[in-house]
Amino acid sequence: MPTIRAVPIGVGHFLPERIVTNNELAKTVDTSDEWIKTRTGIERRHFAAEGEFTSDLAIKAAKNALKNAKISANEIDTIVLATSTPDQTFPSTATKVQAGLGMTSGFAFDIQAVCAGFAYALTTANSLIVSGQSKKVIVIGAETFSRIMDWNDRTTCVLFGDGAGAIILEAQKFEGTSKDRGILACDLSSDGKYNDLLYVDGGVSTTQTTGVLRMQGQEVFKHAVGKLAESGENAMSKAGVTSEDVDWIVPHQANLRIIKSTAKKMSVPMEKVVLTVQDHGNTSAASIPLALSVAVEKGQIVKNNLILTEAIGGGLAWGAVVFRW
Ligand code: UT7
Repeated sequence: MPTIRAVPIGVGHFLPERIVTNNELAKTVDTSDEWIKTRTGIERRHFAAEGEFTSDLAIKAAKNALKNAKISANEIDTIVLATSTPDQTFPSTATKVQAGLGMTSGFAFDIQAVCAGFAYALTTANSLIVSGQSKKVIVIGAETFSRIMDWNDRTTCVLFGDGAGAIILEAQKFEGTSKDRGILACDLSSDGKYNDLLYVDGGVSTTQTTGVLRMQGQEVFKHAVGKLAESGENAMSKAGVTSEDVDWIVPHQANLRIIKSTAKKMSVPMEKVVLTVQDHGNTSAASIPLALSVAVEKGQIVKNNLILTEAIGGGLAWGAVVFRW
């Protein structure tokens, strides 16, 4: 049956100039390159400069995606931006990006699902396209997590980085089979009883401060592998594909050990897993589009590849999306 699909037509990313290695962090934090590398796989991360905001990273990533798609900003009708580190409480960072791109029409809004933000944003963009509301959507993940770190908490401050990635989805007609290009299936979940495993200890309505990130890392770890693999399996089954059909897993880049265990649980070999955690650290909602963009740039992901993305984070909120590039 002819079906409208949300098909990727461009991708791009932007990373702030400043690179901070584990050894540099170890000069001010009671940690070591060895501990960070062994426990997480992270070797370095990027930090935004003073005066460089989430919207700045997002605008640059979006411009790179537009260039890659060879279209102009005014052909875009919708911006969906996933972030937990907006420039301001309001307006949305997405509307700042809309202005920054010089868009004179369309609509833009933010999505807040922390590290699962990009899976939620892709799912929302897919629904907008499939329903006929939107024709060309730019989906962005952008974060400046360096701004919500407690630099006295070595269990969290070594894990995160800043960056942004963007993909452009276009409504296209296909046959309605698992061979179609575009988003084939989405699977989202959350469970608010785990709010206190990963949160920021401030907010508008509670403390009127921004707050800093707090995490019970081991507890989040325990939930991560099972929930990610289950969501990945659900998305593959909804899409009518198996793990053998998958060309690439593009996972949320939080911890190499979680990525490896999840891939193993879904019977996908590590050669088919895109890894950027070593270079970017955990960039929350930006990690998947950053990894996608890097993999396309390197020539790893090519047209018609079947991709599975999966992510989990604060909420807890998690999800997976299956799409064909
Ligand atoms: O993106 C959102 C989702 N978040 C995640 O997926 C994160 C999930 N959790 C994790 O990735 C891991 O739990 C961490 C990387 C956060 C921690 O790794 P772990 O293997 O669970 O370590 P741990 O918390 O059990 O700590 C082991 C030891 C402790 O020392 P003792 O008590 O054994 O003496 C910590 O105090 O490592 C110590 N430690 C550190 N040592 C050096 C904790 N942080 C550091 C550090 N440097 N930065």
